[in-house]
Amino acid sequence: MTPSVLIVGAGPTGLILALILLQNGVSVRIINKEVEHRIGSRGAGIQARTLELYDILGILLGVQKEGEPFKKEGQLDFIAIYNPGETEPVKVVPANWVQAPPDTPHVHGLMIGQDTHERVLREYLQKLGATIELATELHSFEQFPDHVVAHLIKTDAAGQQHEERTEFNWLIGTDGAHSIVRKQLGFTFLGETRTEQNMAVGDIVIEGLDNRRFHMWNVSPNSILLRWNHSSSQLFSYAYTGRADEKTLTREEFIEEFHALTGRHDLTFGEAAWMSSYTPNIRMVDRMRDGRVFIAGDAAHCHSPAGGQGLNSCIQDASNLGWKLALVEKGLAPPTLLDTYGEERLRVIAQMLQLTTKLHDKTWANGTLARSERPSELSMLGVNYAGSSIVLEGEGASRAGSDAYTKVEGGRVLAAYRAPDAPGLVRVGSADAPTTLFAIFCATAHSVLVFGGDAAARTSVADVVARLPKDSAQLVVLLQQGATSGVESEVSAGATVLEDRAWHAYRGYGLDAGELTIVVVRPDGVVGAVVSAAEGVETYFRKIFV
Ligand SMILES: Cc1cc2nc3c(=O)[nH]c(=O)nc-3n(C[C@H](O)[C@H](O)[C@H](O)COP(=O)(O)OP(=O)(O)OC[C@H]3O[C@@H](n4cnc5c(N)ncnc54)[C@H](O)[C@@H]3O)c2cc1C
Ligand SMILES: *[C@@H]1O[C@H](CO)[C@@H](O)[C@H](O)[C@H]1NC(C)=O
Ligand SMILES: *[C@@H]1O[C@H](CO)[C@@H](O)[C@H](O)[C@H]1NC(C)=O
Repeated sequence: MTPSVLIVGAGPTGLILALILLQNGVSVRIINKEVEHRIGSRGAGIQARTLELYDILGILLGVQKEGEPFKKEGQLDFIAIYNPGETEPVKVVPANWVQAPPDTPHVHGLMIGQDTHERVLREYLQKLGATIELATELHSFEQFPDHVVAHLIKTDAAGQQHEERTEFNWLIGTDGAHSIVRKQLGFTFLGETRTEQNMAVGDIVIEGLDNRRFHMWNVSPNSILLRWNHSSSQLFSYAYTGRADEKTLTREEFIEEFHALTGRHDLTFGEAAWMSSYTPNIRMVDRMRDGRVFIAGDAAHCHSPAGGQGLNSCIQDASNLGWKLALVEKGLAPPTLLDTYGEERLRVIAQMLQLTTKLHDKTWANGTLARSERPSELSMLGVNYAGSSIVLEGEGASRAGSDAYTKVEGGRVLAAYRAPDAPGLVRVGSADAPTTLFAIFCATAHSVLVFGGDAAARTSVADVVARLPKDSAQLVVLLQQGATSGVESEVSAGATVLEDRAWHAYRGYGLDAGELTIVVVRPDGVVGAVVSAAEGVETYFRKIFV
């Protein structure tokens, strides 16, 4: 049987989409035109919100094992800034490490090279039975009302090319900034190319530098930023900007220009593991779907690397599209649900382009890397889908405003925003170790969280959930500390009943233990609705299911 979905491109976007679809029981084929997997650190900054999605997807541990947090407890400095020729920094930007709050456990983000990251994702895919088909290129496609025909070109070990014509239900272009899927769809990709801000990038061993902080030199119009690679290695990633030339530097050229710019002759260079170049492009599409064909990730938007939003936005695209496509493919939701992918994401992407461009201009004003502070929005914890046609916003909407990126601090949890985590939850009637909401949420079902109310009120919610398609939603009852007697029947009826021993869930969600409040969390970890009665839950799900 041919798989339902063709995923074109095995970068981070394609890999995460494949993972979500497979977790949801939707078959995929994932192809990549390259003969070998790419190397190099490229997009190595993983934001807090991406780690939260990974927690929900159940892949956080593998990624954390191979990466390192940007900041560690007790760490004092983050970036050292030097004057040319001097070995002592003229300024040190402090790390400002803070304890992660209970509702935001991954607040520090993670550093993991993109090649390593992609390998970890491929390993998780392998566990679900999927492998990446290398040396397989999408040449073109044709779209019909009920299927898509893809024309592929496979190159065999002897270099011979073979054409293949295959039918799929859906085709997703996760084929990067030069996307042929986007081009064949004829989508506009408006914006600008900043050739004057070319960067030479790479990974190189440098002996004699502290490998626990970033190092920076600004000598207008040029600048060099070195990022440590791992606490156990002397590898550094460099981003060298302000050069007129777009070409990738050789190791010798880089070292020579490094010496000229920094005046540091006390450092010893070792092997260069990866060398490349990067020209900032600031562009986006105005739609992400045409019938049975979608684009996601860099294929739909590219922007300045300032702020490290690139790869992270790609993963948000994938997690927004994944659950929706799975429901439609299974016949549980109408195809119109798929229009909400572009509806929700384009608003966020437009603002992300503004944010990164502003940061870019601030950072590289006149070719000089300025000492700009990084805004907290970059963690993506505030990214929201306010105004979405499938979110039931209720009375909190006016508090949220129109900003697609800013976190609303404190107060009641809001529909269209991220669902916070809560640790210290004990399963009633079990001897299991306490769990967290992120461990309860899953990418294959909505989670209907029931706070407060009495048994009768909770039963009315359970009845609504029971009428939904099988396995499409899980009922999660959150009881305040000590209020756990007489809930055996709810446990045996299949609800996950949790005692909020440390009060993190009620406090983190800003809810009162008395009143019934139902928080519906989507499979992508976004709050779909905050309502006070079973009818509200029904109203929400009528927006999603057929
Ligand atoms: C040199 C460099 C440095 C970067 N630095 C940063 C950074 O510091 N921070 C950051 O956040 N981001 C950075 N980025 C951007 C980041 O790497 C991208 O945002 C991210 O890789 C995009 O993921 P993607 O899966 O959408 O596309 P890609 O990673 O581009 O993957 C697309 C894949 O599709 C394949 N493909 C293309 N066409 C076809 C076809 N017709 N058929 C089959 N396969 C095809 C390609 O071979 C490729 O493997 C950098 C990128 C580069 C190139
Ligand atoms: C460290 O450098 C190696 C060699 O290029 C690379 O594979 C890896 O992704 C890098 N890791 C980070 C965190 O930059
Ligand atoms: C950049 O250059 C312009 C014109 O030369 C100048 O007005 C501006 O102040 C400069 N900006 C910075 C941040 O140095």
